[in-house]
Amino acid sequence: MKNHQILFSRRDFLKHFGKGLTGAALTAALAQIPSWVMAQTIDDPPLRTRAARKGILFGAEAMQSELIADHEFATHFINECGILVPGNELKWHMLRPTSSGFNFQPADWLASFAQNANLQLRGHTLIWGDSLPAWFMNTVKDNNAASYLKDHIAAVAGRYAGQVHSWDVVNEPIMPWDGRSDGLRNSVWLKTLGPNYIDMAFEAAAAADPEALLVLNQNFLEYDAPKWTGFRTKTLQLLERLKSSNVPIHALGIQAHLRSDYGEFNQESFRNFLHEVANMGLMIMITELDVYDANLPLETGLRDSLVAGQYEEFLSVALNEPAVNTVITWGLSDKYTWYTDNGARADNSPVRPLPLDDGFNRKLAWKAMADVFDNKPPVKIKAPRDFHFKD
Ligand code: XIL
Repeated sequence: MKNHQILFSRRDFLKHFGKGLTGAALTAALAQIPSWVMAQTIDDPPLRTRAARKGILFGAEAMQSELIADHEFATHFINECGILVPGNELKWHMLRPTSSGFNFQPADWLASFAQNANLQLRGHTLIWGDSLPAWFMNTVKDNNAASYLKDHIAAVAGRYAGQVHSWDVVNEPIMPWDGRSDGLRNSVWLKTLGPNYIDMAFEAAAAADPEALLVLNQNFLEYDAPKWTGFRTKTLQLLERLKSSNVPIHALGIQAHLRSDYGEFNQESFRNFLHEVANMGLMIMITELDVYDANLPLETGLRDSLVAGQYEEFLSVALNEPAVNTVITWGLSDKYTWYTDNGARADNSPVRPLPLDDGFNRKLAWKAMADVFDNKPPVKIKAPRDFHFKD
């Protein structure tokens, strides 16, 4: 093992944990650091390998602009990940910048990148109330919304048929705060087509790509403070309705944008929620995992350990549920995270929500994930569909 591959050198350690400390204070600070911090090397198996050993597929979101321009990032991405999720390239605003025709170039590039790098490809997302192009609202009305929905899914899911591990067919359909008794978000799709737009989308996706796992992807399912509980109950209600109508849905995607300011993470209630989903015969994927850190202390060592603690606690509960078979982080390195633009810190310090830092070094969050994968008991039940892993 080469020296430069050491994750945390003694100098790094002092920079992060021991700034300004001397004498007894420095000795005391050193004593708090677990031995692995300085022993870890990049030769240690990557997350995808540790996950795959336990029947879990691990991967991350990335964008074409990042992978094309930053070869070092691409190298680390291929090393750590078994699956790639295009961050924006499969959303309407990028595929359909104008009302006439599609622009598949960025998504095509990512699909062939994934294929060349032996990564699986995830589809995110076919139908969502957000990320719609400017022309959409003036063009899509009650009388043509169904054909826009069906034609879009036929064109996009059809183009990548056979290449996609799983499609987020509908993203974020639940929004209890919109006040409907079924908890559905009052999106343009709901307004034009009614609740049936969800059924239509799954049917169209199944017809266009019979091989892909079809996923309903939802946010705000991680916490159980009163303001959040509606997301779980209404999601369960919707899943039950879809299953009883024989809609072709295979999995629930839990976004898992973790935030300690959303209240305490209640392990037992989350475990129960996962059980209820699994009992419907659905798989569960953790689809957009990261940890918001704009509310956490500035000091890097402390901040990183608080972030890592949230990864550890959430994932150890999630991976205890056998129906959970995929873990995807929303980004891999702090160099490229949506929180730089959508969750910046008031002190202007760069955010640190992901497993690798902005120089692609493995952080405490990486170690927390590696530990949870390593400690997970081997799978006892087989996933309802076969998964193909790189390892
Ligand atoms: C985010 C992208 O990462 C950003 O680049 C973009 O500006 C906004 O969307 N939930 C989702 C993702 O389902 O599609 C979002 O991605 C993050 C929240």
